[in-house]
Amino acid sequence: MRIIRTKNYEEMSRKAAAIIAAQVVLKPDCVLGLATGGTPVGTYKNLVEWYNAGDLDFSEVSSVNLDEYRALPVEHPESYWSFMHRNLFDHVNIDPAKINLPDGNNMDAEAECARYDAVIKAMGGVDLQLLGIGHDGHIGFNEPSDAFDLGTHCVDLTEETIEANKRFFNSKDEVPRQAYTMGTGTIMNARKVLMIVSGRDKAEIIKKAFFGPVTPQVPASILQMHPDFVLVADEDALSLV
Ligand code: F6R
Repeated sequence: MRIIRTKNYEEMSRKAAAIIAAQVVLKPDCVLGLATGGTPVGTYKNLVEWYNAGDLDFSEVSSVNLDEYRALPVEHPESYWSFMHRNLFDHVNIDPAKINLPDGNNMDAEAECARYDAVIKAMGGVDLQLLGIGHDGHIGFNEPSDAFDLGTHCVDLTEETIEANKRFFNSKDEVPRQAYTMGTGTIMNARKVLMIVSGRDKAEIIKKAFFGPVTPQVPASILQMHPDFVLVADEDALSLV
C-alpha cells in the first residue's frame, strides 16, 4: 500500500487524475473502473481539461462503473449513469459502446449481476479501479457485513449510506434503498486500485481501514492486501494517522 499525501482536495484531484492519465497513455485500450460520489468530481474535471488540451485520448478506453442505484430511472439526474455522463463521458471522446454500468432498471437482480460479471470478465478484468470510501468503510456499495462478497450483487443500502447520500436528492425519502454493486472480489482483482479521500470527516475511517485489522466489518480494509493499492488523500483525511 502506498500513501500519497496532498495539501487539499484540489491537489488530491490533480494527483489522482495524473495516475489515471498515465494509465491511459501507457495502455490506450485500458479498462478503467470508475466511481461516483462527491470525491471524484475534481479528478474527472482535470481529465476533461487535459483531454481538451489534447493530452489525452479516450477513444480506445473501456469503462466499468462500480455501482448503480436499483429502480432509479436511468435519466434521473442522480443515477450514476447521469453522473458519469455529466462529469466525464459527455466531455471526452470515449466510445459510448465501451461504457458499462450495472443496469439498475433490470429488476431481475440475479440476471443483471451475472450479466455485469460476464461483461467485466469478457474485458479481461479492470486495469485501474478508482474508489472513494464511505464513512462506514464501504467501497462501491459493499457495506459492512460478516463476509466479503466476491461478484456483483444487489445490496440494501444502510441507514448511514442513505443518510450520507440524501444530499444529492430533494429528501431522504427519494434516496433509492437498493443498488447493484461490483463485489469486493472484483475490486481486489483489479490490477491497480486508486482510492481518493478528502476531508476531516473521513479521518476516522481511514485510520480504521488502513491502520487496523482486515475485516469485512470495514470493507475497505481488504485493500491492505492488494499488491498495487495507492491511497491519495489530503492532510485532513490523514490527520489521525
Ligand atoms: C461511488 C461509490 C461509493 C463512494 C463513497 C464515497 O460509486 O461506490 O462507495 O465512493 O460513498 O462517496 P463520496 O465521495 O461522496 O464521499
